[in-house]
Amino acid sequence: MRIVMIGSGYVGLVSGACLADFGHHVTCVDKSAAKIDALEAGKAPIFEPGLDNIIEHNRSAGRLDFSKELAASVAEAEVVFIAVGTPSRRGDGHADLSYVYAAAREIAAAVSGFTVVVTKSTVPVGTGDEIERIFREEFPEKDISVVSNPEFLREGAAISDFKRPDRIVLGTEEPRAVEIMREVYRPLYLNEAPLYFCERRTSELIKYAANAFLAMKITFINEIADLCEQIGADVQKVAKGIGMDKRIGDKFLHAGPGYGGSCFPKDTLALVKTAQDYDSPVRLIETTVAINDNRKRAMGRKVIAACDGTVRGKKIAILGLTFKPNTDDMRDAPSITIIQALLDGGANVQAYDPEGMEMAKEVIGPITYGNDPYEIAEGADAIVIVTEWDEFRALDLKRMKSLVKTPTIVDLRNIYPVAEVTKHGFAYFAIGKKNEKQ
Ligand code: UDX
Repeated sequence: MRIVMIGSGYVGLVSGACLADFGHHVTCVDKSAAKIDALEAGKAPIFEPGLDNIIEHNRSAGRLDFSKELAASVAEAEVVFIAVGTPSRRGDGHADLSYVYAAAREIAAAVSGFTVVVTKSTVPVGTGDEIERIFREEFPEKDISVVSNPEFLREGAAISDFKRPDRIVLGTEEPRAVEIMREVYRPLYLNEAPLYFCERRTSELIKYAANAFLAMKITFINEIADLCEQIGADVQKVAKGIGMDKRIGDKFLHAGPGYGGSCFPKDTLALVKTAQDYDSPVRLIETTVAINDNRKRAMGRKVIAACDGTVRGKKIAILGLTFKPNTDDMRDAPSITIIQALLDGGANVQAYDPEGMEMAKEVIGPITYGNDPYEIAEGADAIVIVTEWDEFRALDLKRMKSLVKTPTIVDLRNIYPVAEVTKHGFAYFAIGKKNEKQ
């Protein structure tokens, strides 16, 4: 089957490479010449474990190629995915669909024969209808079916999420499109991943509702964590205790500095806006967004409190900058706000992240970067764990203690057992637990 993926960003590239790995012929298209040139030279523009190998393997097998022009490949394709960006529109928080509609028009102009156009970008409810209207009114001679197929992959685990999904949601009721989409996902279907067909608008909402629910779950446990700190309970044990109830489930109950990334902040905001437009507000999500925004700043205050109420002139060592481990993505990372709060308080901030420092340099103010945790710990008044990279889970605490000025660890990801840290003479401030100060 010939497939074209419009947009070679995170979702487009991972989906395109994985679909090629299933045996389809895939062309990934992007308007950015730099991106396509890099891909043709064998370099993925994003850091995602396993992606380079899949790209290389399928390129050499002749199943995956890249192009700056969509017309020629679209003319031969049976399925064209739209995986372009849908950033938050400046000012009003709505999803900006200009790239999606521009891509749709270009695709329609190029298709020949029956073609399925699939929106993989996260798009507000009704976008599929609007694309269909554009096709019907502006390209009445073309035979195109519009399908919604949201993507649920997580950064850092994108390949396995794509290949072993909990479900594949497909919004279409047109029999020819159903048949073709079954064929696209046949390898997964044979692996027993459920294909869930529903109406297009329902499918579009499933994506937003899923992300909003997960964001709400995280925010819920974060608030419980704050309560735990006040009443002397342990949030990790509370999460475990409630998670054992299958109706609740144990996933997405890790308390932390607030969610970030390319999806949750943008998608929760877009859902809030859509719901307001339809005069059917989603107040739980409105509150989730507000709590999460406040939380990042509050984490800065938590660090300041751990430093006896002031960080002025103090050296703070930040471990981890990306919004989560195994990615170089800094979009809406809590570290940005936390570091800003510390800089505002007069701190001298030094940071280390295994993959995120290049991107961080573009979005974070005047701080210095180190080559490893020990380098930035030297002379520090506090060590703050912001992202739970594996390499921070087994720090040589004895060595750390010998380097720092004041032995204080603020662990915003709860990656250390309290006793382990205090044994080495550190004051330990975790999330949702009693503070341990010597
Ligand atoms: C998310 C969704 O999981 C995915 O289905 C969707 O397609 C895109 O958005 P992603 O943004 O890659 O994926 O990361 P995810 O692992 O979901 O984490 C998002 C944020 O929530 C991170 O900042 C993470 O640190 C935070 N988080 C997650 C928590 O604070 N606690 C948790 O228990 C889980």
